[in-house]
Amino acid sequence: MLTSTGSLPAQPGSVWSLVFDGFEPDKEGIREALCTLGNGYFATRAAACGAVADGVHYPGTYVAGGYNRLKTDIAGRVVENEDLVNFPNWLSLQFRIAGGAWFDVRSVTILSYRQELDLRRGILCLAIRFEDTMRRRSLLQEQRLVSMSDMHLGALQLTLMAENWSGPVTIRSGIDGRIVNAGAKLYQKFNGVHLEELTGEIVGEDTVFLMARTSQSQLGVAEAARMQMFTNGRRIEGQRTAIEEQGYIGQEQTIVLEQGDVVTVEKLAAVYTSRDNAISECGLAARKAVARAGRFDAVRADHELIWDHLWHRFDVRIKHAGAEFKLNIPMLLRLNMFHLLQTISLHSIGLDIGVPARGWTGEAYQGHIFWDELFIFPFFNYRLPEITRALLTYRYRRLGEARVAARAAGYKGAMFPWQSGSDGQEETDTFNLNPRSNRWVPDNSYLQRHVGSAIAYNVWQYFQVTRDIEFLQFYGAELMLEIACFWSSIARFNAERGRYEISGVMGPDEFHDADPDAAAPGLNNNAYTNVMAVWVLCRTMDVLDLLAGTRRTELMARLGITSDDIARWDDVSRRMYVPFHDDGIISQFEGYGMLQELDWQKYRTRYGNIQRLDLILEAENDSPNRYKASKQADLVMLFYLFSSEELGELFGRLGYPLAYDTIPKNVMYYAARTSHGSTLCRVVYAWVLARADRPSAMTFFAEALQSDVSDIQHGTTAEGVHLGAMAGTVDQVLRVSTGIEVKDDVLRFNPELPPEIECLDMRIRYRGHSIDLRVTHDALSLRGEDLDAAPISLSVAGTTHAFSSGTTRVFQLNNGKPNPDPVPIEQG
Ligand code: BGC
Repeated sequence: MLTSTGSLPAQPGSVWSLVFDGFEPDKEGIREALCTLGNGYFATRAAACGAVADGVHYPGTYVAGGYNRLKTDIAGRVVENEDLVNFPNWLSLQFRIAGGAWFDVRSVTILSYRQELDLRRGILCLAIRFEDTMRRRSLLQEQRLVSMSDMHLGALQLTLMAENWSGPVTIRSGIDGRIVNAGAKLYQKFNGVHLEELTGEIVGEDTVFLMARTSQSQLGVAEAARMQMFTNGRRIEGQRTAIEEQGYIGQEQTIVLEQGDVVTVEKLAAVYTSRDNAISECGLAARKAVARAGRFDAVRADHELIWDHLWHRFDVRIKHAGAEFKLNIPMLLRLNMFHLLQTISLHSIGLDIGVPARGWTGEAYQGHIFWDELFIFPFFNYRLPEITRALLTYRYRRLGEARVAARAAGYKGAMFPWQSGSDGQEETDTFNLNPRSNRWVPDNSYLQRHVGSAIAYNVWQYFQVTRDIEFLQFYGAELMLEIACFWSSIARFNAERGRYEISGVMGPDEFHDADPDAAAPGLNNNAYTNVMAVWVLCRTMDVLDLLAGTRRTELMARLGITSDDIARWDDVSRRMYVPFHDDGIISQFEGYGMLQELDWQKYRTRYGNIQRLDLILEAENDSPNRYKASKQADLVMLFYLFSSEELGELFGRLGYPLAYDTIPKNVMYYAARTSHGSTLCRVVYAWVLARADRPSAMTFFAEALQSDVSDIQHGTTAEGVHLGAMAGTVDQVLRVSTGIEVKDDVLRFNPELPPEIECLDMRIRYRGHSIDLRVTHDALSLRGEDLDAAPISLSVAGTTHAFSSGTTRVFQLNNGKPNPDPVPIEQG
């Protein structure tokens, strides 16, 4: 956890801020994504406030769940895409001195440049000292926020100081709706014009207003922005010129500065959509909101208070033992949590949104929702499970679409899409352009039916942490039952083998989509898919036992589930086929063992970075289907999701032996045959190696932790951060150091603090309890807030204790590990 791979830069600086010194045009896209500000309702990339999309900058404002569909004629085929729409740019604020060109950092001499994302306060700060071609020196400073307090407000404050000159300055503030979606390379050939009916207007003396509507989903988005100016603290009055252009509305005013003067511009923007709650009409709401908003400082104070509250719940405090960490681990963890909370927050509850793989920070993957929730939900489960509940209802509401998809494919139950957007239909593109070969290649990743198991797993984990029986009864159970029905119907009995099989699917490893010479896509008996299906069937039978009689009868009648169906689930869960090869290696899928070994060294030497080996091989007219070469953890996912005890139970039920060395043997086997082409993969390997091979686990953890800060996939971060890896790293700290797990209604701990850490503090929420956790090498302590929650059972290294709210329990540890017979040494 504490070492870098050597090739990745260390992050100097504070544990609360991400700092960039100097302007680097080729890094601007990455910084825009990394410094995106958001509040779970809308988000704005950190483009310079005067910038337009020009190859260096890419301004982006995204509304959570703001999608639109468009058709494009590509190579003679009409393809339809659902995109996360880039909405009008409220940042638009320019200035020019003495009638010269509008300020552009690229056309001045930079004397100093510093950008700082203040994670504690949620403020993006910029300070640039520059000299223009007329030798005028100025200091430009900006503070920006997207309010965590009022989900509709964004604000920026810009100050300009005339260091050695006097003269006129013209300020232009507006809302720019001349926006197309062009933020992701993969989709550049697709139609990106989503906005229509753009109407602008000036409201009163200091406000501009722009209304836009998406062409197909008819989502109305209203933005109103108020601009006020002050010199040396005094409000500047005066006449403004209106600037009205197609898709743009602005106001301009010129003022005269004396040497040493400071002009302050405050811009307050409100964003509303036609789907918002508690409004009459979004335009009216936006205008009202800016008229009522206070000055920048007041808006900032409210915003900082909420961030303070969030950090109280979410922060992870790590104290290193001895030497400083090579990486700024505390800051990187906070950056990851910051993005998670900006993507999904308490403001997201009730918005009917899912959690997109890349946050609302760019247009990669078109803002779609994948299985990445599997990595993201544990972060929320243990801190603010209300958020997981809201995100699970996104899936619940899309059961109808998943049922239709199952029927269309000839199955029962619900078949969830691999990529999901507005209404839950399959959004995976049918073809992707390989930039190496310039060929359109079929994308069969929609065959990843395992996404349904991830949803069921997430329901179960949420229930384990919260014991929210109402949710289980009215939403969770139905999801699980329908997913179980799907698995039972797709599984076919092979009489020769005496086992059930699942054919025509893909596992998480996207390199393999078919047998080498097969005419049709799809693999048979992907071990991860099959074992997850068994797990879903087992847990769904447990859920039926948990349901009250009436609810169970209601659900079974409504979903048409009979006792014969349940008997079949039981049978499938005992006789599912799992392929093996090479004496104890669980085959990733049937036939994997027959594939050729890849000459990894040859490809590394030839191409350097081979994370996307699939694109390399396709460009060579070859295919990864021929090789034992995976993009990411597939079978190994089982060791990430389940303890060895749980896996032993599952394999035992199936009648397959799980020898004591099966897990390490398989981890090593697949680690040597994986290109780690997904950031999620590093999270998985960091965990599965955590206790067996710490140095390798640390390397994977370090890489996962800085996936975006170091843009480890060479160019993907600019199009959006990788939220799954961000959440996975935070979750890992909790899981590795405390060994936390819920089983049989017991909150279990099995702490093992890495030697490099002296002390770890974090706060968790569990079944109505708020518990401050502290792990040191000598003790694990749990301090419960007095909340009048029902007592819970917890166990440390196997011994169970009762825990009541408002009490503190301390368990002695021996060098960060539990004593063989841990005794609570203190109670209060
Ligand atoms: C990975 C998937 C993941 C998706 C979105 C892909 O590169 O292979 O597992 O769900 O990215 O993060």
